Amino acid sequence: TFTPNAFVEEVIAEMKAKIGNDKVVLGLSGGVDSTVAAVILNKAIGSNLYCIFVNNGLLRKNEFQSVLDQYKGMGLNVKGVDASQRFYDALAGLDDPEAKRKAIGNAFIEVFDAEANLLTDVKFLGQGTIYPDVIESVSATGGPSATIKSHHNVGGLPDFMKLQIVEPLRMLFKDEVRRVGATLGIDPELLGRHPFPGPGLAIRILGDITPEKVAILQEVDAVFINGLKAHGLYDKVWQAGAILLPVNSVGVMGDERTYEKVVALRAVESTDGMTADWVHLPYEFLQKVSNDIINHVRGVNRVVYDISSKPPATIEWE
Ligand code: XMP
Repeated sequence: TFTPNAFVEEVIAEMKAKIGNDKVVLGLSGGVDSTVAAVILNKAIGSNLYCIFVNNGLLRKNEFQSVLDQYKGMGLNVKGVDASQRFYDALAGLDDPEAKRKAIGNAFIEVFDAEANLLTDVKFLGQGTIYPDVIESVSATGGPSATIKSHHNVGGLPDFMKLQIVEPLRMLFKDEVRRVGATLGIDPELLGRHPFPGPGLAIRILGDITPEKVAILQEVDAVFINGLKAHGLYDKVWQAGAILLPVNSVGVMGDERTYEKVVALRAVESTDGMTADWVHLPYEFLQKVSNDIINHVRGVNRVVYDISSKPPATIEWE
């Protein structure tokens, strides 16, 4: 049986032995895995761990600042890099989902590489890889490495990709990572966060991305997620979010007809994301959230709820 305390003790000793007095650079995502990996490495090597947290402009509302503050509060040596505009520029005019993913992947690599190159004498790249990632590393969807190769096959790999890799969580399953995180004293709210895709809101805005659309979706998403939390539903859901549809619909406001955006809400139950069922959220809750969204978010006049299961419908719409 797995005992988090024993694991923490062993992995810290192992990391100390492997890394010695050398430096490690690690990208934080705001998710559970990279956070737990960073806390372990921080315990092993302290300020020789250099964390980089990139704002791609596609995170949830206020998430960059609040998560960055949280990281600093945990004593991590972290630099926040706001590269939102760079990602918006890279995405401008793209509406194909895979083209958007690729643009985001490439922009991330460039930003991260530039930041890592500001540090001197770094020997290791820390990663929050967990056991299912190890198994799936040659997945059909192509992880980050597929993107890296297609983009950098002329000039060679970016420098950070040539570093030796340290992956303190590579033998663990997700529930074990959460238990290790709890043992390390990480905020239960952070450990209980829903999964969030790397390309973020870009794959929940169908069609092309503009900062204005991101701002609308951030507001809608915040009303939905905060509503789930306020009604004690957040922890009963595996993943939830809002999707901005490329559709306008007619509404009325006073004597005027409006022609505004439609958003879809999605909440699923799952164990691993491979299959998923839509959650039967209470009608009263859906009614309240719908009213709150339409009353508070300008530019949205209609809310629909996604009642499709996976398969065949995927969790994300793109
Ligand atoms: P689908 O939509 O394939 O999603 O049913 C399954 C899980 O994967 C997440 N997802 C992604 N995560 N990059 C990521 O890091 C991506 O491009 C991506 N696409 C989907 C999705 O949020 C869900 O948790």
